[in-house]
Amino acid sequence: MEKYVIKGGQVLEGEVTIAGAKNAALGILAAAVLTNEECIIENVPYVEDTKVLLRAIENIGAKVKYIDKHTVSICGGTIGNGSELCVDDEYIRKIRASYYLLGALLGKYHYAKVALPGGCEIGLRPIDQHIKGFEALGAKVDLVTGGYVLAQADQLVGRHIYLDVVTVGATINIMLASVLAEGKTTIENAAKEPHIVDVANFLNSMGANIKGAGTDVIRIRGVQRLKGTEYSIIPDQIEAGTFMTMAAATGGNVLIKNVIPKHLEAISSKLNEIGAHVLEYDDAVRVMADGRLKSTQIKTLPYPGFPTDMQPQMAVTLALSQGTSVITESIFENRFKYVNELSRMGARIKVEGNSAVINGIEGYTGANLVAPDLRAGAALVIAALAAEGFSTVDDIKYILRGYEDFDGKIRTLGGQIQVVDSDKELQKFKLRVG
Ligand code: EPZ
Repeated sequence: MEKYVIKGGQVLEGEVTIAGAKNAALGILAAAVLTNEECIIENVPYVEDTKVLLRAIENIGAKVKYIDKHTVSICGGTIGNGSELCVDDEYIRKIRASYYLLGALLGKYHYAKVALPGGCEIGLRPIDQHIKGFEALGAKVDLVTGGYVLAQADQLVGRHIYLDVVTVGATINIMLASVLAEGKTTIENAAKEPHIVDVANFLNSMGANIKGAGTDVIRIRGVQRLKGTEYSIIPDQIEAGTFMTMAAATGGNVLIKNVIPKHLEAISSKLNEIGAHVLEYDDAVRVMADGRLKSTQIKTLPYPGFPTDMQPQMAVTLALSQGTSVITESIFENRFKYVNELSRMGARIKVEGNSAVINGIEGYTGANLVAPDLRAGAALVIAALAAEGFSTVDDIKYILRGYEDFDGKIRTLGGQIQVVDSDKELQKFKLRVG
């Protein structure tokens, strides 16, 4: 089983370029099937989640081809007719975003049968709001044997939909299901993340009529048909944030390129507050940190609040800061699983309900770690890079779902990290780095 081996203690310096946003790409790739014409999508991150979703889109009959590593062409005109549509395979059941094909196929064919979504185990992650939206539009939605969601409709008619919780997935899915519906759909209490705006912009470039994305009220006027388009995905806010906290936690000086600084404001603000220095440029940020950082309080919130996907990475940084910090996780019920792993490195963190009380320590000691999910896995890599001595991080399959060339990018910054697949390779790394 592949794992990372890391020799900590290096100060990270240099430049890193951020890939396209995974959570925008997944909605956009699914949205491409809404037209029978070719969509060319650029800046697609080359990560497991996008590869799995593209394979599922091809499996239902669409023409999918990689023009280059980060540019894909999707043509939905060859998808089998609605009644045979079933999205299922062992891979698709592992990713969360499979459910975007529910909204897209329902919106286009008025029929969709998709295996229930998987994804990181960070909470219950129900899809009741997705189903509420589909049913409001006129669909009949059933959970059928074998772990499928079956959605079908004679017709889809625009409605006023109030989301009971702010949910990225349901906001995107209802947009996908309603762009070709008759009449006007309003989504109240909509999520406002940058990736919601990116999916709406992509759909509008196909001829959809969506207004208000990025606010908590999104208005969609159904159109007759959508056309092919060419579109480039926004940079990944969370990959950028991950490298920002990596620079801060190792006391480094890193220029993070191909970002939209506005999307990073909550992260930059918190890093400045604890004594790191974040300099903003047009499409880059520089993060510097020298000396011990300070403690703070953080509560994860929907955008533009502090992102839940940055909670583990920030916790790792605060666990090295002076004083006591508190992180409250308000989005997911079970997103502190990494704390036990960090404690084995010497961290002093106590989880009480949905809060973690963090008493800063001088430094981590290396340990053998296991990644519990995508962002916690990235956070453990940051801890290992800041630690004294050697660490290993197992179950890196989670990390590969959302980060492209993660170890390669860290090496360009001077980090000593390698993917190893055997004890022999691990010993070779230890001998080489000394
Ligand atoms: C998306 O997940 C992201 N995943 C997550 O990123 C991210 O953490 C999350 O949004 C919040 O920003 C993708 O985009 C593929 P939600 P999603 O629906 O859509 C509850 C990563 O690391 N809820 O916004 O599943 C839900 O339980 C991943 O890249 C309902 O109650 O998140 C949660 O408590 C991890 N009913 C809250 O809403 C529903 O029908 C937010 O969930 C839907 C959600």
